[in-house]
Amino acid sequence: MPRPIEAIVHPAALAHNLARARQAAPDARVWAVVKANAYGHGIERAFDGLRSADGFALLDLAEAERLRALGWRGPLLLLEGCFEPRDLELCSRLSMWHVVHHEAQVDWLAAHKTQAPHRVFLKMNTGMNRLGFTPAAFRAAWARLNALPQVDEISLMTHFSDADGPRGIAHQMQVFEAATHDLPGERSLSNSAATLRHALRNDWVRAGILSYGSAPDFPEGDIARWGLRPAMTLRSKLIAVQELQAGDTVGYGSSFTAREPLRIGIVACGYADGYPRHAGTGTPALVDGVRTGTVGRVSMDMLALDLSPAPGAAVGSEVTLWGRGPHGSMLAIDEVASAAGTIGYELMCAVAPRVPFRVADRVAD
Ligand SMILES: Cc1ncc(COP(=O)(O)O)c(C=O)c1O
Repeated sequence: MPRPIEAIVHPAALAHNLARARQAAPDARVWAVVKANAYGHGIERAFDGLRSADGFALLDLAEAERLRALGWRGPLLLLEGCFEPRDLELCSRLSMWHVVHHEAQVDWLAAHKTQAPHRVFLKMNTGMNRLGFTPAAFRAAWARLNALPQVDEISLMTHFSDADGPRGIAHQMQVFEAATHDLPGERSLSNSAATLRHALRNDWVRAGILSYGSAPDFPEGDIARWGLRPAMTLRSKLIAVQELQAGDTVGYGSSFTAREPLRIGIVACGYADGYPRHAGTGTPALVDGVRTGTVGRVSMDMLALDLSPAPGAAVGSEVTLWGRGPHGSMLAIDEVASAAGTIGYELMCAVAPRVPFRVADRVAD
């Protein structure tokens, strides 16, 4: 029998979450952001749940090819654009739209021989200082692209640094509006946090993390508040039970000491499965659907749980590390991430290759 750990992708949750993005931005079309192999879910596994999207946004040309191989004929957007001139040939061949965020990408387009002109998303750096033309250079880039026979439509785009937090988006919107107010073209501004928290005029929103059922602004917002459902479950089983006496310690470094007799369960899941090693004692998990917490350090292949809230638990009991548990129970990935000092994004992207994935039955999901 294989180790009992598995990850499950829930297509109905993906579809539900995309519908929430549409509800939050009713006038916009929705990009399902599927970079990083669909935030760790797997493009092929996530595709069915996300196929109601208006398009897929991603970075990796090979991942874009996989979407075309799945039969997707609609829009694809390369969020970082082309990395070298010959990428434009693939964009032409696969009808991919691409972001243009620096001058050399305009030069490559000007030199590109294409039958069908390209649709581009011109990106402005309004304060994130990662990618994009400065507001001062943006209009010149727009004029250059507009004059190229290789380009047929130019959309306007920016990315927010603080849509999930107190600084918000007003400072970046001011910069964007000032530089674009008289330019034609569709606009793509909002990521998940902006889609849920800020009503903006968008022609295309870019729904990443919300599609996967994680709140972009945890703990201020959570999936209950935003009406999202976990699209990934990581689950395993108890493979041993230990009865501790007061003074007994648990695991490497003896970081946990029992103050009184305590039953703990050992779970087949460790950092080599992608579970965060920095998750300290008390990180939430479910045993047979009952909420409890970890004790001691996470090791490579195992972690320990306090079984006091689940006295009936025994070897073979089901453990939910995040996502859906038995009897309608649920543990948001954001809670686990927060206890480990990270974000849901990182955990879902980090599930290790040794963990087998399966896709839940959409009807029973
Ligand atoms: C340009 C761009 N748009 C949209 C997204 C999606 O962001 P989120 O997952 O927070 O919705 C990202 C992700 O980092 C991005 O880089």
